[in-house]
Amino acid sequence: MLNIEVSVSVLSADPLDFGSEIKRVEASGAEMIHYDVMDGVFVNNITFGMPLLRSMQGKTNCILDVHLMIIDPLKYIDDFADAGADIITFHVESKSNITETINAIRNKGIKAAISVKPNTPAEAVFPYINDVDMVLVMTVEPGFGGQKFMDMSEKISAIRKFADENRTADAPLSIQVDGGIDDITAPIVKKAGANILVSGSYLFRAENMAEAVTKLKGR
Ligand code: DX5
Ligand code: ZN
Repeated sequence: MLNIEVSVSVLSADPLDFGSEIKRVEASGAEMIHYDVMDGVFVNNITFGMPLLRSMQGKTNCILDVHLMIIDPLKYIDDFADAGADIITFHVESKSNITETINAIRNKGIKAAISVKPNTPAEAVFPYINDVDMVLVMTVEPGFGGQKFMDMSEKISAIRKFADENRTADAPLSIQVDGGIDDITAPIVKKAGANILVSGSYLFRAENMAEAVTKLKGR
């Protein structure tokens, strides 16, 4: 069984107080910082680029989990890896060649992951099941924090089953979920087979982030 880990989406952090927000995340017991990059093309919204990520490089013990919601991720893999990404996730729906993009990430010596939007079927990631460390199943349409959770249990279970039956890579596949994850929805995605929970608005809204992280991880 894979441990349940939490990746805190800093999309919901206070941008003017970013340094202390990162300290809060670190003190919460969450394993990862989830860094959402949006380009205004793949999704309407525009968020952060390389410089803010670079500012955290070497300054936090959390794993820097970069989620690229951009149209041509291949073009920017080196930049985000050099800025400190430990994991880079890109979308199967993007315009880059998927195998080339996975290879570009691996060549930087970091973990590679692919993501599917709510309307993209599980089968879209099957050809890459041995080439990635993680699959991210979106539980909202990418673009904004604070949206309502969409139940993707069937998709998560299908990917978990396919990996159990077909993955020959040494490490087990991680399945991450992102969007609308809180104390009510976490049990649903964990039951379906997800082991890494991204959460933004729920954790930053919480009076005690550490307690909220523990709640997400608990049974
Ligand atoms: C949405 C982003 C998410 C977002 C999640 O496109 O990829 O990471 O920050 O935020 P919550 O947890 O508020 O749904
Ligand atoms: Zn995200």
